[in-house]
Amino acid sequence: MLRLGVNIDHVATIRNARGTPWPDPLRAARIAEEAGADGITAHLREDRRHISDADIDALMAGLRLPLNLEMAATPEMQRIALRHRPHAVCIVPEKREERTTEGGLDVAGNEAMLADFIAPLREAGSRVSMFIGHEPAQIEAAARIGAAVVELHTGAYCDYDTEGRSEDRDAELAGLRAGAALAASLGLEVHAGHGLTFDTVGPIAALPQVAELNIGHFLIAESVFTGLGAAIREMRRCMDEARR
Ligand code: PXP
Repeated sequence: MLRLGVNIDHVATIRNARGTPWPDPLRAARIAEEAGADGITAHLREDRRHISDADIDALMAGLRLPLNLEMAATPEMQRIALRHRPHAVCIVPEKREERTTEGGLDVAGNEAMLADFIAPLREAGSRVSMFIGHEPAQIEAAARIGAAVVELHTGAYCDYDTEGRSEDRDAELAGLRAGAALAASLGLEVHAGHGLTFDTVGPIAALPQVAELNIGHFLIAESVFTGLGAAIREMRRCMDEARR
């Protein structure tokens, strides 16, 4: 079955806007679990703009679902991941000035560095994932360095959909489809995420090699109107319908 990882970063964004203890990301994670999420994703950014170190401590201590820790390939983040040994670690590119993770990681251009960086994480038992675009060179490099998983960046596909650029969206979807097939043929588990909504999730959920979707911003946004549990259940329904 296609898994749903719920990214709770923006629960922390709302909390941090006022410096209060609420809304609590761990409480959101528990609601996500009750609503049928298969995992929780949290991105500990270098500038701690949303998820904090204390949030990661609380999630590791209080969560029953597997935690997917997203992080940049820095020595500080490596130390944190090795201390916690989360179920999964997803390596993402990070720029301080960006609003969100804008592009995929350049694995092909940093192969030796990333191979060294992920080796201790793999030894510690975390499933290591690379957040990349669908270019074959990036997928092949991820396989060569020993990553278990690639997460394909769906942001451009979602942006083209929102902008009504259907030809560009279809070309991007074709790239994602080919990328998912290539990654699976190389023995990589395939995940996908970024920017997905009820409207855009279907074609991605329908890609047969995709084992997991990670979705955050839209679910937290939708929860303002419907509640988090209802938003997650509806996303699950959209995913399951596309898989059928
Ligand atoms: N996957 C990765 C690797 C991400 O960095 C993000 C955003 O933090 C997501 C998935 C989820 O994206 P969104 O919040 O747009 O659903």
